[in-house]
Amino acid sequence: MDLLRALIMCGIVGYVGHRPASDLLLDGLSRLEYRGYDSAGIAVVEDREIAVRKRRGRVAGLIELIESHPVEGSIGIGHTRWATHGDPSDVNSHPHLDESGRVVLVHNGVIENHDRLKARLSETGCGFRSSTDTEVVAQLIGWHLEQLIESGHAADDPETCWSALRATLDELEGTYGLGVLFRDCPGHLWAARCGSPLVIGVGDQEYFLASDTSPLIGYTRDVVYLDDHDTARLGRDGLEVRHRDAGTRDVAVQTIQDEAVDVELGEFPHYMLKEIYEQPDSIRSAMRGRMDGDDATAVFGGLNADAGELRRIDRIVLTACGTSWHAGLVGEYLIEEFARIPTEVEYASELRYRNAPLTDTTMVFAITQSGETADTLAAVRECRRKGHKTLAICNTVGSTIAREADGGIYLHAGPEIGVASTKAFTSQVTVLALLALYLGRMRHMSFRAGEAFLESLEAMPELVARTLECHDTVREVARRFADCGNFLYLGRQYNFPVALEGALKLKEISYIHAEGYPAAEMKHGPIALVDERTPSVFVTPRGGVYEKVVSNLEEIKARGGPVIAIAGPDDERIAGLVDEVIPVPDVPEFLQPLVTSIPLQLLAYEVALLRGCDVDRPRNLAKSVTVE
Ligand code: M6R
Repeated sequence: MDLLRALIMCGIVGYVGHRPASDLLLDGLSRLEYRGYDSAGIAVVEDREIAVRKRRGRVAGLIELIESHPVEGSIGIGHTRWATHGDPSDVNSHPHLDESGRVVLVHNGVIENHDRLKARLSETGCGFRSSTDTEVVAQLIGWHLEQLIESGHAADDPETCWSALRATLDELEGTYGLGVLFRDCPGHLWAARCGSPLVIGVGDQEYFLASDTSPLIGYTRDVVYLDDHDTARLGRDGLEVRHRDAGTRDVAVQTIQDEAVDVELGEFPHYMLKEIYEQPDSIRSAMRGRMDGDDATAVFGGLNADAGELRRIDRIVLTACGTSWHAGLVGEYLIEEFARIPTEVEYASELRYRNAPLTDTTMVFAITQSGETADTLAAVRECRRKGHKTLAICNTVGSTIAREADGGIYLHAGPEIGVASTKAFTSQVTVLALLALYLGRMRHMSFRAGEAFLESLEAMPELVARTLECHDTVREVARRFADCGNFLYLGRQYNFPVALEGALKLKEISYIHAEGYPAAEMKHGPIALVDERTPSVFVTPRGGVYEKVVSNLEEIKARGGPVIAIAGPDDERIAGLVDEVIPVPDVPEFLQPLVTSIPLQLLAYEVALLRGCDVDRPRNLAKSVTVE
């Protein structure tokens, strides 16, 4: 199996306590399904018997399987899988057992040297059932366990299990978050982390294991985050964490904040729609406590950088992936306009391998909803390794990037479950606007200009709520164009990143080919794509480049291309030119992305529904991209 076949991003759960494990595991897997939905499985240990139930497909299928083939026991592990290559089959589903049936485990990550390890184990007569890298880990633990037992160690001694696990981890190259059960040591659940996130929930004589905090909600708010090279034993008798180099370490129990709690769909049919409608509130939360009217500036609690340091910055690098990268582009326009600091936006996947010349006066901000994106994390580590202060703009409290960065700003948007990012984008833009104000006010921006900036920002939640009233119009537009095979998205200045974001939304949930461009770039090539079956979505609210965008729009109309315009209210001129108009409120140009992105999110949603696509779980994607 080549390395690509092993690329998996998954969700892990575990439970040890006094309640029926299978109910808790299935509940946890349902909440983690956004991380992958190619297969699901659980293993429960009871009376020195390991029972495994797993199958290809969604958690709903696993629930049916367990209804007909229940498992008893109050210690177990579970897994939901996302595979980029290779067949998501029953046999490749997790959990995986070793050959002797003594060890069972679930894994999130990539074992890069699995071929070599497999060859070595095969020489000892070990037979493999699946084509996953994960089974190699189970077999290797089983092999080390066998050696230990043969040399006199007791199979039911937790120290023997620690030793088998440690010896295995020392041989692995790659990344892993593991949940492991040993048949002969049934009161315990082991976990190990290197590169893939794991959090332990601490209950009353019970412990939970999960890839993120969403499965813990409703069970406990007390959590312990594992660090890389930590292994942990979760038992009814307590929790022990050992670090590879430092041995047993103190565990710091933290309390999850309220905002992590709202993971229910409520009245909405999809998380994406719920999250689109949450934006007035999520934007408000991003601003809460951060507007300082007295000094006409912004305040941030966790930047960990003093004013002197921030005044010395002469260059900013914003690094991110996907939607967060688009928010970064808006940030570049904001910071350069209001703080006059040269700013670059780098794909994290490029920055991590480039020898970018960062100086002592460069500040790096990583932008990420999840705080777990592998490329963004690697870019953060690379910048920090070179001694550069690296801050995070992040939504997920306690995520790896939030914990490893030198400081940062939380979005406070609440959990974003829909794979297509929506509210995180507008919260990121809000935080970047506040950052631009803050950096501008400590340079040359006047008090009056700062006041006006804050006033405009303060009005945004209400204006975003009004923007959502365009939903019925968007639904009609979607009906007219849902069967087109190609779309173009065009905008200029602050609305250029919005065009990119609109195209990404349509692509990822409706599988329609869409391209975003700065509107004026059309005539340098992409205009050749225009025909009567290729709608162009123009983001053209009133502002400094309005006339220019209208000219670009007329160029498309002259070539017979249908045009959908996102335009200011009562814009008769645009209405007379285009096929469909979706109105948005007038707002200052620098805040336009907060309103112009909303109809584009709704358009992607409605088109995807009409095409029968699974909006919250688009094919081939997963919410957190935790592998390279
Ligand atoms: O969690 P992050 O913000 O780091 O995620 C980055 C991208 O993977 C993410 O924005 C992705 O592009 C979304 N699916 C877009 O909707």
